[in-house]
Amino acid sequence: MINSINFTDKDRQYKTVFFETFGCQMNKLDAELSLGLLQEEGYKIVDTVDGADVILFNTCSVRQHAEDKVYSHLGALKALKKKRPEVIVGVLGCMAQKDGESIFKRMPHVDLVCGTRMFSRLPELLLNIKNHGSHVIAIDEDHIVNVKRAVTYRPNFYQAFVTVIRGCDNFCSYCIVPYVRGREISRTIPDIKEEVQALVSSGCKEITLLGQNINTYGKGLNGNITLGDLLSDLNDLDGIERIRFVTSHPADMSRDLIRTMSRLEKVCKHLHIPAQSGSDLILNKMKRGYTAGYYRDLISYARELIPHISVASDFIVGFPGETDEDFQETVQLMEDIRFQNCFIFKYSPRTGTKAAELEDDVTDEMKRARNMRLLELQKGISLEENKKLIGRVVEVLAEGASKSDSNKLTGRTRQNHIVVFHGSREFVGKLVNVLIHEVTDLTLYGTLT
Ligand code: 5AD
Ligand code: SF4
Repeated sequence: MINSINFTDKDRQYKTVFFETFGCQMNKLDAELSLGLLQEEGYKIVDTVDGADVILFNTCSVRQHAEDKVYSHLGALKALKKKRPEVIVGVLGCMAQKDGESIFKRMPHVDLVCGTRMFSRLPELLLNIKNHGSHVIAIDEDHIVNVKRAVTYRPNFYQAFVTVIRGCDNFCSYCIVPYVRGREISRTIPDIKEEVQALVSSGCKEITLLGQNINTYGKGLNGNITLGDLLSDLNDLDGIERIRFVTSHPADMSRDLIRTMSRLEKVCKHLHIPAQSGSDLILNKMKRGYTAGYYRDLISYARELIPHISVASDFIVGFPGETDEDFQETVQLMEDIRFQNCFIFKYSPRTGTKAAELEDDVTDEMKRARNMRLLELQKGISLEENKKLIGRVVEVLAEGASKSDSNKLTGRTRQNHIVVFHGSREFVGKLVNVLIHEVTDLTLYGTLT
């Protein structure tokens, strides 16, 4: 265990850090918070490993593929570390939490393993390596993450992510998250409000609240606090224009929350609410706690109350025992609900989870075919739904230059459509109205009105 260290001026010497992040939005935000802390300690962020004194990977464990990528990046650093042994190589986040000490065995040139709840202590961990040598490990699960956010370090000034609940208590049978991110811990409303207020004062217009399972926000806090309470309080803050929240779990999404969403004007009418499968048999084996019928009713209720709400989902194909009939039920659900967009994943067994005890009996070829089928289906639905917006005016928060054409701007609607439109830099950070005249399955194109 590392004790608190008082930094001296000598410790605050100019250093460079290269930081790469894999995985979900929560990881990206943790990276942002870590870099904010390191910058405060005098680190300069560089974008190649060549000139870096410290190389950090913030990792993901949700599928095998994500881990393989990190191990391959780490392997590639062996030669660099031989040439410059003083360079510090660190593994942070989910894979660090999951694999712990074994990372040093597999990759002896790694100096630091820092788990999902310890990154706020990065500066002292790095100092410890500098002073006492390699192989420092910090994976204490009970540690409560408490980062004084440096609001000046943000990739985009007009938008920010704010973690409101960490961890997950759901234990869906395929998922490693509860094992690597620990039990649910909610931040208090005053704590969150203080952070949001600081962000808004520094120019932020749109806040996205993050949680692995955001609908259980408030569990364990005094006074029966719910996500609806938090949304209502944030809705009252001056200066904030849009509030989003992800990710919702169908079993924990209350109708009360849908009613609250419908009455709060700043809360964007968009839900990312993964269904995962359309087969009750598979949903049961996944331990999701709902049926496809329940899911359909929930979305119908949301659409009744908020007709223009957009709904996005995740699906896993090739879960153990998934038959053609089960898969067909997923296809049917997708056809019936008509999601705005979906992320489709091939099932990847994760050691330690309940599903990993089942035989991974759907062949990779079949998983790939089912994946393709759903992607194609969703592409068609997204295109048809987007076409309905041609000739309509949508409100967009202009985020910056479009990647494909620097003369155009890009941004999102409240329903989370990506919009590309003609416009100059003066509009960046502003809410603008755009007339849509062309669409693809992923993007709307238009002109300012
Ligand atoms: N295999 C494949 N996909 C997975 N997901 C989570 N665990 C696994 C796994 N073992 C997917 C789920 C989740 C998304 C973030 O990742 O669809 O919603
Ligand atoms: Fe994983 Fe399920 Fe928790 Fe989501 S709700 S993080 S899928 S265990």
